Amino acid sequence: MNVLPAAVLVLFLVSYCAAGILNIPLTKARTPQWKFKRVPRRPWPFRVHALAKDIKLINYKNTLYYGPITIGTPGKEFNVAFDTGSSAMWVPSVHCLTRSVACQNYRRYDNASSNTYKDRGGTFRIEYDLGKVAGYWSQDSVTVGNLTVKNQTFGEAIIEPQLFADTTNDGILGLGFRHTNIDEDPTVFDNMVSQGVVSDPVFSFYLNSIESGGRDSVLTLGGTNPDYYTGDFTFVDLSVPDQWQFKMDRVQFSNGAATVCQDGCQGLVDSATSLIVGPIDEVDVIMSALGGIPMPGLPRMYIFDCSNVDNLPDLEFVLNGKKLPLKSRDYIMEMPIDGKTVCLSSLVGKTWEKEETPVWILGIFFMRTYYTQFDKGNSRIGFAKAKH
Ligand SMILES: *[C@@H]1O[C@H](CO)[C@@H](O)[C@H](O)[C@H]1NC(C)=O
Ligand SMILES: *[C@@H]1O[C@H](CO)[C@@H](O)[C@H](O)[C@H]1NC(C)=O
Ligand SMILES: *[C@@H]1O[C@H](CO)[C@@H](O)[C@H](O)[C@H]1NC(C)=O
Repeated sequence: MNVLPAAVLVLFLVSYCAAGILNIPLTKARTPQWKFKRVPRRPWPFRVHALAKDIKLINYKNTLYYGPITIGTPGKEFNVAFDTGSSAMWVPSVHCLTRSVACQNYRRYDNASSNTYKDRGGTFRIEYDLGKVAGYWSQDSVTVGNLTVKNQTFGEAIIEPQLFADTTNDGILGLGFRHTNIDEDPTVFDNMVSQGVVSDPVFSFYLNSIESGGRDSVLTLGGTNPDYYTGDFTFVDLSVPDQWQFKMDRVQFSNGAATVCQDGCQGLVDSATSLIVGPIDEVDVIMSALGGIPMPGLPRMYIFDCSNVDNLPDLEFVLNGKKLPLKSRDYIMEMPIDGKTVCLSSLVGKTWEKEETPVWILGIFFMRTYYTQFDKGNSRIGFAKAKH
């Protein structure tokens, strides 16, 4: 039993973007000495035929997906987690502090060896629950697949928390919304749209599971790819202007065993959070209805009898009047621990701070079942059944 907490911790670490799992909002120092010159945006939508590009993602233990980008001229490659739960992009810097082991362990950006580097001025600091990432803003060309944006602002990290030393990706590329209230520069995807390198302001994720084998996970920039989903999309409108957040109607079991969020509640889709996170009181109701045993610790996970998992009902997220079911194997995961198989919920309970609005975070365990399109032009998110 006492190996469990360590294993759980590992799982949380690989769900790296703790800003996602624990939903710590992004903060950044103001940089009054420098103002970004805005590139005029073209009206949406500009073209009918999409110039979309598929980016292959690497699946790390079904808990995090990351992919290659290059920065600078000549380009230097980095692996980044594509994170819909945050907006900034950062990679480790060659100037990272010697005492910051996490930063030393990874590929590092060297401004002196790029012809397209520009001094952006200003510092950044992003608070995750595992610690803070800090450094300064720089600008350079950034290439994702064969899509290149110029003058992209990104963070060069010189301090990273010790706990980031065990992750597999070098940095993070935020696909969330730019915070104009703190003068945040345009995101990579904003620049792809304004510089005309994608034709539609839409991107989509297909996340495979290691067990299903075969197909690679894919991030499609500039559209959706029908090879990866079946049926129609269920769309939900964004409920706030600056997050991939929407209203959910209900969360219920297919056999009626329990229903929560009965009068509606808020949900977020987060491509860099491994688990599905809900308010702890509601998750307690759901999990105890199935006989899950709560484990000590936060966020709260539940243990299940592995021999019974296949008999458990579907968990249905009701969005815009449509049911999006998850099979029990998607909300309960088998983990080999010390030669034994343990069944743990991938739906976990979180206590929100007083000033925070409780939300459900639909992370990777949800997005594997549902191909998800993030549509900035229409301020909506679409879910369709992923083709595995
Ligand atoms: C970029 O990639 C797409 C799809 O992979 C391909 O069709 C297109 O020709 C490529 N463009 C360039 C300029 O290489
Ligand atoms: C690289 O960045 C450092 C720190 O901001 C700066 O002192 C240096 O001048 C930069 N190098 C180049 C070639 O601009
Ligand atoms: C990038 O910045 C330079 C000036 O520093 C400017 O001449 C160029 O037009 C910019 N390119 C884009 C695509 O914004």
